[in-house]
Amino acid sequence: MTARILDGTKIRDEVFVELKGEIRALDASGIRPGLAAVLVGDDPASQLYVKSKIAACEQLGLASWMHRPPATITTQEMLQLVDDLNRDDAVDGILIQLPLPKQVDTKRVLEAVDPAKDVDGFHPVNLGRLVSGRPGLVACTPAGCMEILCRNNIAIEGANAVVLGRSDIVGKPMGLLLMHANATVTICHSKTRDLPETVRRADIIVAAMGKAGYVAAEWIRPGAAVIDVGTNRVTDAQEAARLFKNFPERLEKFRTKNSALVGDVHPDALNVAGALTPVPGGVGPMTITMLMSNTVKAARLRRGVPVASGSSSSSSSTSSNSSASSSKQTQTTTAR
Ligand code: GUN
Repeated sequence: MTARILDGTKIRDEVFVELKGEIRALDASGIRPGLAAVLVGDDPASQLYVKSKIAACEQLGLASWMHRPPATITTQEMLQLVDDLNRDDAVDGILIQLPLPKQVDTKRVLEAVDPAKDVDGFHPVNLGRLVSGRPGLVACTPAGCMEILCRNNIAIEGANAVVLGRSDIVGKPMGLLLMHANATVTICHSKTRDLPETVRRADIIVAAMGKAGYVAAEWIRPGAAVIDVGTNRVTDAQEAARLFKNFPERLEKFRTKNSALVGDVHPDALNVAGALTPVPGGVGPMTITMLMSNTVKAARLRRGVPVASGSSSSSSSTSSNSSASSSKQTQTTTAR
């Protein structure tokens, strides 16, 4: 049996269509939502991420600004830049691309961002709102995972959900979102005892620990829904041979390029899971999508524009109202 593919690029396209409608409606009221991105230094991966985020703004017709301080910037200088962006009324969303250089106090900088403009959902005020089930801006990757589950009608209410990884950015908010949608949630980490047995009980697995192919196919209950947050670049030929032993085409592609992207879930999961996000093309596209959605949401909330029902930026999947989020589910027991 082969898992149903949970296509993130397809959902991104759907959400973009919905966002374009919202952006047009805001434009008619003289509002153009805008995102300010801060990219410190020259890290190639960060440059690529921020470039994609700015390109998405342009595609949707959002205003965007790119700030490029040097890698030598101090905490004080970063705080000054954040203060300027907080005060700039044209800026609805502030994105500080991470990681920041060692000399910069990252937590202090993130806490200086106005929570109303915190489109990454990293500010303690927004995390607190999420904990207490109040509306706020939710971290983009877990919000994107919820969107994938909801738009594919995967039953969350009553499901056993296992989240692997407890980071502030993914694991913790993911656990809260699933809990608010009435799943029974287990968060696993490096000290969890008998991980395979715990994962085997899951109807929904969210893998977010950053280890290529770590979740073995044998750990997965047949029919479970698997959300793979990992994006790991594999360059070791032996590792690629282990991962792709049942996927000769992927192994061949690895041999021509000397690298491949692999999630945290072993590719063999395709033959056990009921539904599965591919890597690439699953969760990845949803992170930028939810950043765009949060920017539109921040623009509306800051200006007191009411939410149009069914709008992407008022997504029911990340709503604090658990009955709203669960009402979208069809009550099937597996992901097929
Ligand atoms: N660096 C890697 N992922 C992210 C993200 O989602 N947001 C920000 N701001 N920086 C990142």
